[in-house]
Amino acid sequence: MSKTEQAIGIFDSGIGGLTVANAINTLLPNEQLIYFGDTAHMPYGDKSPEAIKYYSLKIGQFLMDQNCKAIVIACNTASSLGYDDLNTMIKGKIPIINVIDPTVDYIISHKKLKNIGVIGTKATIKSNVYARKIKEKKEALNVESLATPLLAPMIEEGFFNNNISKTIINSYLSKTKLKKVDALVLACTHYPLIKKEISEFYERDITILDSAEIVAEYVKKVLSKKNLLAKKRTAQHKFYVSDFTSSFEKSTKLFFKEKIHLELMNLWK
Ligand code: DGL
Repeated sequence: MSKTEQAIGIFDSGIGGLTVANAINTLLPNEQLIYFGDTAHMPYGDKSPEAIKYYSLKIGQFLMDQNCKAIVIACNTASSLGYDDLNTMIKGKIPIINVIDPTVDYIISHKKLKNIGVIGTKATIKSNVYARKIKEKKEALNVESLATPLLAPMIEEGFFNNNISKTIINSYLSKTKLKKVDALVLACTHYPLIKKEISEFYERDITILDSAEIVAEYVKKVLSKKNLLAKKRTAQHKFYVSDFTSSFEKSTKLFFKEKIHLELMNLWK
């Protein structure tokens, strides 16, 4: 198998990363994807940094063993806490792409955006990674970060577009610190699934940044630069989970119209 035909490995704690996988699949239909959803450990957002690093390294090694030509950490929590260790482990053998850097670059290059709100899991917000990376590149920007820990488990359980999700979303977004933002970063890959509900909350003009497409464009750029873009699809996508959940299967079928091959994989035996 030539290098270009090898798959892109993608992982998240659950269904959130499927929003990124879907965007990559749409933009780069020739690419085979190998997706790992760590459903046994979902939510990552409430775990310790050590646990998140450990899961990221284990999954990264698994994707390396599958001969992936690149790895996309399709999870903000694992990108905040596991990216550096994973990079050290992989030693530049293949590109590792996180969801944070491309989004930060996008914010910096859009001059209109001045007051940036960031919502994400407890672990992502506690790491302060968005505020730090944005301010490193553009000190003058104002960044307000808010942990919204109920959102990812709510979405993973299939609770969206209903009264329960609306009440929870409204209660988080009405917090004073988000009152003045002109852009809201959905710093959790689960949140694009409630993007419509989030925009419905705002009665004013606000940019809602969902990193899925931004990251897909970035993956294309990286693969193209390294001459790693596939010329044609040679194999079906593969989906692995660390625990079977009906919502994972349902969401995968929703995003990927082709026949889904879902396999249980316990990396923690
Ligand atoms: N989708 C993940 C993220 O982007 C994590 C959600 C969770 O497991 O807490 O942060």
